[in-house]
Amino acid sequence: MKKIVFLLLAFGAFHAQAQTKLSVKKMKALADESLQFSAKQYKHMMQNLPDSLFPRSTNKDGSLMTAKFNWWTAGFYPGSCWYLYEATKDPAFKQEALKRQQYLLPDQYRTNTHDLGFLMYCSFGNELRLEGTPAAKDILMTSSRSLIKRYKPTIGAIRSWDHSGWKCPVIIDNMMNLEMLCWATKNSGDSTFWNIAVNHANTTMKNHFRDDYSSYHVIDYDTITGQVIAKKTHQGHSDASAWSRGQAWGLYGYTMMYRETKDKKYLDQARHIADYMLNHPHMPKDLVPYYDYDAPEIPNAIRDASAAAVMASALLELSRYTNKTESKRYWNAGADALASLASPAYRAKEGENNNFILMHSTGSMPGNSEIDVPLSYADYYFLEGMLRYKQWAGK
Ligand code: GLY
Repeated sequence: MKKIVFLLLAFGAFHAQAQTKLSVKKMKALADESLQFSAKQYKHMMQNLPDSLFPRSTNKDGSLMTAKFNWWTAGFYPGSCWYLYEATKDPAFKQEALKRQQYLLPDQYRTNTHDLGFLMYCSFGNELRLEGTPAAKDILMTSSRSLIKRYKPTIGAIRSWDHSGWKCPVIIDNMMNLEMLCWATKNSGDSTFWNIAVNHANTTMKNHFRDDYSSYHVIDYDTITGQVIAKKTHQGHSDASAWSRGQAWGLYGYTMMYRETKDKKYLDQARHIADYMLNHPHMPKDLVPYYDYDAPEIPNAIRDASAAAVMASALLELSRYTNKTESKRYWNAGADALASLASPAYRAKEGENNNFILMHSTGSMPGNSEIDVPLSYADYYFLEGMLRYKQWAGK
């Protein structure tokens, strides 16, 4: 049995490395073309989007699904507008980002969500990066102070949901909210934010991961003892399976934590997660994962383009921190996944797909929600990945 698993893994590794690579010149041209296309597509989006709302996905009847300011994905649309402003310098994208962000302002005071990094750092964080706006700093500091109110010292982690049915759930996705906390310490000199981010990352590393470096989706903790009560899934195929977007959040999260702390254990964790994905016998040739690496319907299972976009952007960054051989492998895999997403198999035609850029993402298979649809965060990480490619290629 072990021999078969090894052979399958070896075949998977061969698969992941033997992609047809585009030359740097061709990939750069594809990145340019994709960003130009995305700008046209998002112009249609902004002209058709109701005031005060944010694009989320597609409804079952095919119409645009919108979200209010308090849905966890609301920050991605202004964030994508900032990336398009960065790519094109077209002031319409800056105006649109600033306009939509006004509706996000109440989020900075919320203590009932762990998604403040997604909501505020993807939007106001990009404004700060590109424009240096002092008001964005204040908003991000307030958001960071709100987020750390959810930190549970006995557990060493930030609580994720307040839903009933859990004692103190922490989901792998929550790694993504730590970047804003690292920024908050750099900005203010107050180490509280950084210490909480590090504790959260360490607790997650200890309890979320299996021996093969795949991760559980949800760990439920006892608030009094801090002990693990249960290891579960919410959006994956089963408690024991590897939900694809969760693996991508983990990869991105530990790569980012290495960037912020230079602690080698985070780099090793990110490398192990990347190897788990890229060596997986169920990783499709085009590097766009099925919604779960253990989905029983494979090879007919639904894909998740959002998992591919998050993974691709993270792999490009990870490649900058590793040795030459690994670096090439991660960089090529990131570029190949982006090239797949930019192909007609995943990228929409202009004016279609409710004006989202990418098709074929999956929100929650067990929840029968957002299956094989566009998702605003798939677009956001696709744009980020293409910008990263252009910025880092050949460097
Ligand atoms: N953070 C929720 C998700 O990835 O679907």
